[in-house]
Amino acid sequence: MQIPDGGGAFRGLIITIDGPAGAGKSTIARRLAARFGLLNIDSGAMYRAVALWALREGVSLEDEARLEELARRAEIRLENNPPRILLNGEDVSEAIRAPEISEAASRISALPRVRRALVEKQRRLGERGGVVMEGRDIGSVVFPDAPLKIYLDASLRVRAERRLAELRQKGSDVSFEEVEREMRQRDLRDSTRADSPLVCPPGAVVVDSTNLTPEEVEEAIVALVRRLEAHGKEVSP
Ligand code: DC
Repeated sequence: MQIPDGGGAFRGLIITIDGPAGAGKSTIARRLAARFGLLNIDSGAMYRAVALWALREGVSLEDEARLEELARRAEIRLENNPPRILLNGEDVSEAIRAPEISEAASRISALPRVRRALVEKQRRLGERGGVVMEGRDIGSVVFPDAPLKIYLDASLRVRAERRLAELRQKGSDVSFEEVEREMRQRDLRDSTRADSPLVCPPGAVVVDSTNLTPEEVEEAIVALVRRLEAHGKEVSP
């Protein structure tokens, strides 16, 4: 996996952002990356890329050994400017956002061998620091010692509304009820799986974005980064 070099004054910083779908993780990770000159790593996109490859290859979503092999072989490149994800050299940024890929990614992400393969890739991407990485287990499993861990949450209703707006913008005529039902199912699967379920990581700061604008969420997290700078140590709840 290749990444551009994150630089600047925050070279060593790792910010983890975990939380359910639609909480605003991607938006806020992108903003923080731009603000502090960090690399933005969307770990969910990695699960999505492997799911896409599996569906294209006709691999069963229950065949853990073959899925692990795909996860290990996948050459995943995450670019920030402009944001793009390449799978084995192909730009799959759009393809991985299809609803069937959301579903497939959620299913394969419950498989321990797939997780192990992708967690290794994620650790390699972040080992030099200078990153903001978002996902479901980043602060709990991938970088439990990160100096700043955020758990970004929002009500199911607001999360479903946000996702609906995104889908409508892309021309989809899906209903609110459908989006909400799928999101509830995905939440349940992500938070009840045996391996690395979605949890609020120990030591994470909880930010509830239900009634906040992206600007307000950004400012809340920037204040935590400033505190970290001032004290030079971990920021706890
Ligand atoms: O954030 P997202 O919707 O792009 O993630 C796609 C799926 O991958 C989602 O169902 C949860 C899973 N995932 C995970 O299990 N662990 C991560 N670190 C990131 C995503």
